[in-house]
Amino acid sequence: PRKIIIDTDPGQDDAVAILLALGSPAEIEVLGITAVAGNVPLSRTQENARKVCELAGRSDIRVFAGADRPLLLPPRTAENVHGKTGLDGIELPAPSMPLQEQHAVDFIIETLRAEAPGTVTLCPLGPLTNIATAFRRAPDIVGRVQEIVLMGGAYFEVGNTSPTAEFNILADPHAAHVVFGAGVPLVVMPLDVTHKVLTSPARNRAFRDLGTAPGEAVAAWTGFFERWDMAKYGSEGAPLHDPCVIAYLIRPELFSGRHINVEIEIASPLTMGMTVADWWGISGRAPNAMFMGQADADGYYDLLTQRIGTL
Ligand code: BDR
Ligand code: CA
Repeated sequence: PRKIIIDTDPGQDDAVAILLALGSPAEIEVLGITAVAGNVPLSRTQENARKVCELAGRSDIRVFAGADRPLLLPPRTAENVHGKTGLDGIELPAPSMPLQEQHAVDFIIETLRAEAPGTVTLCPLGPLTNIATAFRRAPDIVGRVQEIVLMGGAYFEVGNTSPTAEFNILADPHAAHVVFGAGVPLVVMPLDVTHKVLTSPARNRAFRDLGTAPGEAVAAWTGFFERWDMAKYGSEGAPLHDPCVIAYLIRPELFSGRHINVEIEIASPLTMGMTVADWWGISGRAPNAMFMGQADADGYYDLLTQRIGTL
């Protein structure tokens, strides 16, 4: 299986991504989960990550707390979407598994130095603060990363948190600037993809019909956040963003896109955090990211339902 570190700010969709990874041991080995401030503050995201591991019956997974704020900007949260806890929709018990004492950034650095070069994939599902901090503090690890597969940004969909920016990038654009410029092989799951994998009553029912605690939780979570998104977009379902990252590791053929140049805007107050994606190859700048654009939504939900059903 592929060794990964999940860097995350749970968040209901982050939680589903964690469940998908833990339900796929043949393809994925989770070396650790690093929490970052994002959808809700760090005190919540690290606790939520542990709640989700316990929901999956995996209290052996190590969870680390990382950055409690972006590199330069003031913290930005998204309680309007995710609720006060970040996992509103169902109340999970307080976790009994411990939070690791080591800082998330130190864990990322130590792991990349300890594992063979090119064998660890980073899976950021939130603001990129932890990853950028690790790269800045220990430049020797950058060349050892197998790949970064992240959820963030947008091109045709433009933005969901400002008119021109997606939440994960806008929350810490300076960190995103570091990561996109690092020279690591990058796969990006932008809103262009995630807005094609919408929840629906039938898809939610399939989770609930699993008849398990994880299935029930996923159905409750999607039922919670889709109210917000459906009102916002006037759509019949809501994007289930972050599991796209994990689904790509298991079934890459579910997604297609282009290897293009993507730069992060960090200067303009108007377009701060925009992923300037050169989809048409106009700029002459060298490609640095596989930027996805299409997804097989039925295949995605089938995979999610099947794997979460094993937990
Ligand atoms: C991203 O922002 C968060 O609200 C979600 O968890 C996802 O990672 C979507 O823009
Ligand atoms: Ca997230």
